[in-house]
Amino acid sequence: MQFHVWAVFVLCVGLCSRMAFAYLLHLAPMQGYTNKHLRYFVRLLSEKAVLWTEMEKTEDLLRSDKDSKKRLLHSDEEHPLVLQLGGDDPLAMQRLMQREVRLYGPFDEININAGCPSIQAGGASYGASLMLRADRTRELVETLAHERQQPVSVKCRIGTYPLPQEEYNDDYNTLHEFAYAVSKSNCLDHIIVHARAAVLAGLSPSKNRNVPPLRYDFVHRLAKDFPSLRVTINGGLSLKQVLASSSISSSSSSNNNKDIDLFLDHNLDVMVGRDGLSKILDLWHVDANNHVEHWHHRISKENTSSNKKSKATTRAIAIKQYGEYAARQLEEDASIVLAELLLPLILACEHLRELVEEQDDEVGGREEEKQGREAMCDVEDDVEACCSVVEAILAKGCNKDSSSSSNININSNSISITSKNEGRRRRGDVKNIEVEGEEAEEEEEEAASTSRDMQGELKRVLRRTKAAIGTKVMNKIIRNREK
Ligand SMILES: Cc1cc2nc3c(=O)[nH]c(=O)nc-3n(C[C@H](O)[C@H](O)[C@H](O)COP(=O)(O)O)c2cc1C
Repeated sequence: MQFHVWAVFVLCVGLCSRMAFAYLLHLAPMQGYTNKHLRYFVRLLSEKAVLWTEMEKTEDLLRSDKDSKKRLLHSDEEHPLVLQLGGDDPLAMQRLMQREVRLYGPFDEININAGCPSIQAGGASYGASLMLRADRTRELVETLAHERQQPVSVKCRIGTYPLPQEEYNDDYNTLHEFAYAVSKSNCLDHIIVHARAAVLAGLSPSKNRNVPPLRYDFVHRLAKDFPSLRVTINGGLSLKQVLASSSISSSSSSNNNKDIDLFLDHNLDVMVGRDGLSKILDLWHVDANNHVEHWHHRISKENTSSNKKSKATTRAIAIKQYGEYAARQLEEDASIVLAELLLPLILACEHLRELVEEQDDEVGGREEEKQGREAMCDVEDDVEACCSVVEAILAKGCNKDSSSSSNININSNSISITSKNEGRRRRGDVKNIEVEGEEAEEEEEEAASTSRDMQGELKRVLRRTKAAIGTKVMNKIIRNREK
C-alpha cells in the first residue's frame, strides 16, 4: 500500500515537473502576412497559437479611423491576439489606447516593436533603434501599462549595429542593460527576443533576418537573469522543432532533444515566423502537443477575452470553412483586396506542393509505406479542398464565372464546394490495405499518378491565382516567407 502511495506521488511530481515545461507558441507579426484573413485561417487550424497583428504605426492608426478599423476590428474568435505598435511618441500611444477598445475591440497584449531594423533607414526613430533609447522605450511601456490592464511587451533584438560588419562581436550586456532599463519600473510583462542583432542601415530587411548570427545563448541568460519577466525566444526556429517536443519524454532522437533544449529547458515561450508561413498547415498539429500551453490557462487576467471558436475537425474542413468566410467577405466588402483574401490559400497550396513532393521522395519499410499512404490521403483531401476554394474565390472575386465550374454554396451551417476535381478518382480508405506483389506495384503506380494529378492541380490553381493578382504580388508573397 505504502509503495503505491509512493509510486503515485513520484508519478505526480514527474507529471507536474513536465507540465512546468510548457510554453506558449506565438505566430510572429509579419507585415504583408499576418492580416485579419490569415489570422482567421490560422485560428481554424489552431486554438492555441497566439496570433499577432502586423506592426501598426501609431500615427497611422490615429490618422484614419476607417482604414485602421478595417484592419484591426476583430471578433472573439481571433483571441488570443497581440497588437503590435510602431512608434516612439508616448502621447500618441496614450491617445490610441484611450480609443482602442471602442474602435477595434480589446487585445490580449500590447506590444512595442523594438526590433525592426529598416525603420531608421526610412528616417523614423522607432523599431530597433529604440534599443538605443531604453529610457524612451520604458516611457512607452509605462504609458501603455497605465492606460490598459492588458500585459505590455517589447519585441527586440539582442543588440544593434549601425552598419554591416565583417565580423559581429555581440555583447550580452547590451541586451541585459536594455531589458533592465525597460523593465525597472515593473510595467513590462513580457519580452520577445529575436536572437540576432539588427543592422540599422546598409542591409535589406530580409538579410537582416539571416545575419548577424543567432545567439540563443543570450536569450537563455536573459531568462535566467530576469525570472519575473516572461521571455520568448524567436529567430530561425521551425514548427518541426516546436512540435518535436511532444516526443521528448518518450523516444525522441538526440537531435530533437537538442532542438528542444533551445526553449523547454530554459522556461521560454516560442515565436515562429517564416516557417509558420511556409509550413502553414503544420499549425494544425500544434493543439495536439501537450507542451504547447493555452493562453487562457497561463494568463488569467480579468480582461482577457476568450476564444469562442473551436477549431475545425480536419484540415480540409478548415480550408473549406475559410472558403465560407472568404465568400462572406467578398459579399460584404466591395473594396476587398483579392490577394489578401487568397494569401492563406496561396501559402497552403505551396505547402501542399512540398508535402506531395516529400511523400513522393519518401522511402521506407512496409509500416512507413502504410503511414505514408494514410498521410497522402489527408494531403489529397487538403489539395482538393484548397484548389476548389481558390477556384471559387477567383470565380466570385474576379466576377467572371464563365470558365469556372466551381461554386461556393453557403447555408447557415455548412459550405459545399463543387469543382472540376469532384470526379477525380480517389484512392479510398487505404488504412486497411495490405499490399502484396503485383498489387503493390499497381498501388505504387496509382500513388504516383495521384501525386502527379495533385501537383498538376496545384500548379494550375497557382497559375490562375498569379494571373488574377499579378506576378509581382504573387512573387512577393512566395519570396518574403522564405528563409
Ligand atoms: C515578411 C516579414 C515581415 C515582418 N514584419 C514584422 C513586423 O511587422 N513586426 C515585427 O516585429 N517583426 C516583423 N518581422 C520579423 C518576424 O516577426 C520575426 O522576428 C523574424 O522573421 C524572425 O523569426 P523567424 O526566423 O522565425 O522568421 C517580419 C518578418 C518577415 C519575414
